[in-house]
Amino acid sequence: MKALVTGASSGIGKDIARELSKKGYDIIAVARDGNKLNELKEELETKVEVIAVDLSEVDACKLLYKTVKNKNIDILVNNAGFGDCGEFIRNRFRKRIKYDKHKYSSNAHFNKTIFARYGKKR
Ligand SMILES: NC(=O)c1ccc[n+]([C@@H]2O[C@H](COP(=O)([O-])OP(=O)(O)OC[C@H]3O[C@@H](n4cnc5c(N)ncnc54)[C@H](OP(=O)(O)O)[C@@H]3O)[C@@H](O)[C@H]2O)c1
Repeated sequence: MKALVTGASSGIGKDIARELSKKGYDIIAVARDGNKLNELKEELETKVEVIAVDLSEVDACKLLYKTVKNKNIDILVNNAGFGDCGEFIRNRFRKRIKYDKHKYSSNAHFNKTIFARYGKKR
């Protein structure tokens, strides 16, 4: 059994990876920080494949898809992202653009391709 978890280097994604590993899933762990992903690899008892990519980059999403498309993934947890709070008008505009870019790249190029592939099989 295999699960791909994006945003596995911290927070919710890291905990989901831990829980899935406890249930026996090998993990494909994706985030930008390869060092943190390797720490997770050391911690978990099932196999962990580390893929350090920036999912806000369209080319990185395409490369990730190519890398994982034949790996027979059973569960996809596409959790990578970031939250924000505060007054949008004042000082959040740049961060908001980055957020939108991330969501667009990730959704348009990774979700679509990977869901299309595995959605057809089930
Ligand atoms: N915590 C909440 O209350 C809450 C509420 C609603 C929704 N969410 C959503 O749930 C998800 C996880 O939240 P969290 O609280 O666990 O956040 P977190 O601790 O900041 O974790 C975010 C994860 O996403 C990865 N990530 C961020 N940008 C990335 C990028 N461009 N490319 C690849 N990986 C990226 C981060 O790893 P690197 O930095 O190593 O890349 C990290 O592993 C987010 O999408 C967030 O928007 C959270």
